[in-house]
Amino acid sequence: MLENAELIEDGASVLLTFSQGEQRRFHAVWLRDNAQDAGTRSPDNGQRLISLADLPVSLSLVAARIEMGELVVTMAPESKDYRYDAAWLWQHAYDRQPPSQRGWLMKEIETWDATLSSRLPSIAISSLNDDTAKCQWLAAIRRFGIGKLTGGPLHSGALLDVVAQFGYPRETNYGRFFDVRSEIAPTNLAFTGLVLPAHTDNPYRDPVPTLQLLYCLENSAEGGDNRVVDGFRAAQQLREEDPRSFELLAGYCAHFEYLGLGDVCLRARRPMIELNPDGEIIGVRFNNRSAAPFRDIPYADMADYYVAYRRFGEILESSAMGVTFKLAPGEAFLVDNTRVLHARTGYAGEGSRWLQGCYADKDGLLSTLACLEAAASGDAT
Ligand code: FE2
Repeated sequence: MLENAELIEDGASVLLTFSQGEQRRFHAVWLRDNAQDAGTRSPDNGQRLISLADLPVSLSLVAARIEMGELVVTMAPESKDYRYDAAWLWQHAYDRQPPSQRGWLMKEIETWDATLSSRLPSIAISSLNDDTAKCQWLAAIRRFGIGKLTGGPLHSGALLDVVAQFGYPRETNYGRFFDVRSEIAPTNLAFTGLVLPAHTDNPYRDPVPTLQLLYCLENSAEGGDNRVVDGFRAAQQLREEDPRSFELLAGYCAHFEYLGLGDVCLRARRPMIELNPDGEIIGVRFNNRSAAPFRDIPYADMADYYVAYRRFGEILESSAMGVTFKLAPGEAFLVDNTRVLHARTGYAGEGSRWLQGCYADKDGLLSTLACLEAAASGDAT
């Protein structure tokens, strides 16, 4: 509820008082740029119809009042009224204290450790056809960055049908999807099932694939368990233990590289812990196998950088941090590849393991989720 509107700073801004006395200021230029009228925003698709040059340099507010719970302001030099819904203004208010601590996370994100094991989000693949169940599972992916799927069909390429439920596969030099097939064959060292420590995939790619799906078709080998770790929790733990180590990994770019067999040459220069300018953690890239020589870290900081890098790796490998599970045929898991690292234990004994993997992106998943949530809230009202 909007209770009062008062022009301040000679009409450069308006001071609004909401229920319980909460106050928020809005600039005239912000209000004009975000006007909701049909001349400013397309009624069809909501896209802005005016350009920056259409915002008068001498823009100011000459009057402000409340009508039917809405803010109405008169702007000069246009001499035109613009209306704003009170709830919309409250929702979009920017007049607040910026985050004081680097390494914060959006409220939709919940970090986790090994205790997530007992409540790992999971869905039967057939339930993806149910909007309510799909919405809950996608919301869990947004919250935890990891989710399991069960009861899928056992044919090559089945993972693409899963991706189609929320987005689009990202085709790369590895194809639309790829085999992760290791058979116990002592004559071939390439298929001996080496341990893979916790890593994010393709850190040498920019933009990096933001989702990875790993889908199990065979898994009779002993070992070969999957382990997942929350990189955001690990980054926060590093910051709590040693703020300087956190700042080193966030403040300097590492290099990552993959050269393939001469037909691929992928390189990226990014920090291992990526922050927005306001300190929000937005990504983790960690893959020792793909790390190229670091060359943008000053000599004076390189030794400490390696201390931080090593400690971050130790946290990621800690048993208190990871969740381990073994996929059965027809099971899969989806990870946010900018946040959750995955690892594989080694193999022993007889048997085979055949997984297929593919990449996709979070924009498609979050769009599907937002549409499902909007439809659900529409249903509820
Ligand atoms: Fe991987």
